[in-house]
Amino acid sequence: MLVLGVETSCDETGVALYHSERGLLADALYSQIPLHADYGGVVPELASRDHIRKTLPLIAQIMRQAGIGPGDVEGLAYTSGPGLVGALLVGASIARSMAWALQVPAIGVHHMEGHLLAPLLDPSAPEFPFIALLVSGGHTLLVRADGVGNYEVLGESLDDAAGEAFDKTAKMLGLGYPGGPEVAALAQSGDPERFDFPRPMTDRPGLDFSFSGLKTYTLNTVKRLEQSGQLDDQARADVARAFEEAVVDTLVIKCRRAVRDSGLDSLVMAGGVAANRRLRERLATALEPLACRVCYPPPELCTDNGAMIAFAGCLRLLAGQHDGLTINARPRWPMNELEGV
Ligand code: KG4
Ligand code: ZN
Repeated sequence: MLVLGVETSCDETGVALYHSERGLLADALYSQIPLHADYGGVVPELASRDHIRKTLPLIAQIMRQAGIGPGDVEGLAYTSGPGLVGALLVGASIARSMAWALQVPAIGVHHMEGHLLAPLLDPSAPEFPFIALLVSGGHTLLVRADGVGNYEVLGESLDDAAGEAFDKTAKMLGLGYPGGPEVAALAQSGDPERFDFPRPMTDRPGLDFSFSGLKTYTLNTVKRLEQSGQLDDQARADVARAFEEAVVDTLVIKCRRAVRDSGLDSLVMAGGVAANRRLRERLATALEPLACRVCYPPPELCTDNGAMIAFAGCLRLLAGQHDGLTINARPRWPMNELEGV
């Protein structure tokens, strides 16, 4: 089955053509980062308007690349939530209308399910069941995945998402948006011994996260350094390092706990923060003694993209699921409300 996937939940327009037997045929991504950079974060109305400008030309582009005509498409998949409502509506309207015009089924995909399944695009990926760490700008989730749509949320952030904490820390340090890659790059030259930041909620049982206290701790440290005239380039790098160490350590501690408690032998990680190198290395080392392997998609499939939506949609369409003619945008959509296949 050939599925066209459309992702427009936030600040990236992603489209892809995925074939159930031939794999990923073409994909394209347009990032709005420069559009929002001056504002230090995503401006929802600007995001929606830009998705309107970019989605159709990008679809035409990947069809040309793959040598595929609209009549070859057998199903449409689009992100129907969670995300920015205006941005979601653009992709949902385009995909649902195309499916209607082509008389093929359409399905609204949960953005975090897209992230969760993205590692499975790699043929050497693990089989179900596995633990998934989903760390993006909007979510921090630890999930037990027993099959497509069969997810148990084991833990989640009670306040800020890990990516959001990276973005806010970047702002405090005068870095650009999105902050994760910039904080990680600056942390490279930071001294890990200079500051010791808290590892929130690691001294309590359970698998939930909280990053807002760590954010405040970081802000107070930056303010203190500023007031005493010590906030030079080295101090900024040292703060970035201490912050990154604290987030990575916190995520690793909870992942180890989830693996130990479940007895499962594989963990996949996905979402933008899963592109973080230190997190990848640290997690692999920490889970080795538990005989658990860590799998993660290449960085371009960690951050938002159309391929993960085409793939997740294809699995559901192949199982016979599809939506009605309604254009579905669900800005809030708890993951445990998903139907199994
Ligand atoms: O999954 P994603 O592309 O979009 C959302 O669905 O939110 O994730 C974006 C988030 C941003 O907060 C960004 O700062 C973070 O992922 N991120 C990183 C890295 N690359 C992206 N955080 C830490 N280290 C990175 N290398
Ligand atoms: Zn995402």
